[in-house]
Amino acid sequence: MAWITSVGAAVVVCAGLVQAAEKPTPEHINAMKAFNAANGKLRPLLAAETKDYAAIGAVAAEWKAPAELIAKFWGGRNAEVGTKMSADVLKAVNDLAAAAKANDAAAVAAAGAVVSASCRTCHTAHRTGPLADGTYEIK
Ligand code: HEC
Repeated sequence: MAWITSVGAAVVVCAGLVQAAEKPTPEHINAMKAFNAANGKLRPLLAAETKDYAAIGAVAAEWKAPAELIAKFWGGRNAEVGTKMSADVLKAVNDLAAAAKANDAAAVAAAGAVVSASCRTCHTAHRTGPLADGTYEIK
């Protein structure tokens, strides 16, 4: 009978793990897709020797709304990493806009480094997947 007890315990543990992951809202997924698109544009702009400040400013502008959405979502949660990272990204996106406007290479680099580094930290703490269907979940 011992095996029945352990199977039962294993089922309970698995159920607990499944419940811990949460399906993201379409808004969260779209914001992440926007983060990905903006980051993809920003990387070569940051690497370029001669900075295209107008283009950097445009990336910062398109990043603002999704960054606000993610900061609002995670700001309302008791999640140490997600709450801090999402607030840091929103601040960095605003800093990036200001730095681009001021043609300030050092400030552009500093803000760009914060946004680019945020992805992995937050995903390690709060993203699971990809699932079989290619989607991700929140943990
Ligand atoms: C505050 C935490 C956080 C930050 C910061 C963050 N992500 Fe995410 N990301 C998540 C979570 C949680 C998921 C899984 C839920 C989802 O797909 O929306 C995710 C999912 C994604 C996905 C998959 C979306 C899909 O198609 O389902 C992409 C792409 C992505 N992130 C890119 C990025 C990039 C690029 C950055 C950095 C520029 C970034 N993320 C920063 C938390 C974060």
